Amino acid sequence: MEKVNISIDAIVYENLSELTKEDKMLFDKAIEAREKAYAPYSKFKVGAALLLETGIVVTGNNQENAAYPSGMCAERIAIWKAASDYPGVSVKKLVLTAASKETQVKTPVPPCGACRQVLYEYEFNQKEPIQIYFMGETGKIIKVESLNSLLPFSFDSTFL
Ligand code: THU
Repeated sequence: MEKVNISIDAIVYENLSELTKEDKMLFDKAIEAREKAYAPYSKFKVGAALLLETGIVVTGNNQENAAYPSGMCAERIAIWKAASDYPGVSVKKLVLTAASKETQVKTPVPPCGACRQVLYEYEFNQKEPIQIYFMGETGKIIKVESLNSLLPFSFDSTFL
């Protein structure tokens, strides 16, 4: 028997003013996308911005549906938009923000499990890490260096 310990490194920024110009610009885009989300049921709007290796920024937001499970998260919309329009182009960064109509979201909101798995597919294929920055509407920002950090013991195509 062997005990293993998996730990991840994260950076916590106090607020947006601690970020680089590029990262602030990505948050501006994610906020813009967030405000256009279609979330009449949860009232919880999420915006995502992806920075591609070419410098192009692709955004996405959550799209809900009266048949609840038919809705989709911002991250998957953004990554599938990118994969669909720019196949084979590496993703450098994913920036995320969430805001609710019910309460002010002050805690950083990370990607859900299903989004982690979908995003990981592309990180695995591109063989370069995707940095992830996530926040609520205000407050701290958490940055991790890769999808792999958010998804240890990940499942990929090599298992098939
Ligand atoms: N949501 C996202 O867009 N991304 C996540 O990672 C978590 C949840 C959306 C889905 C749904 O429209 C709303 O937030 C509430 O769960």
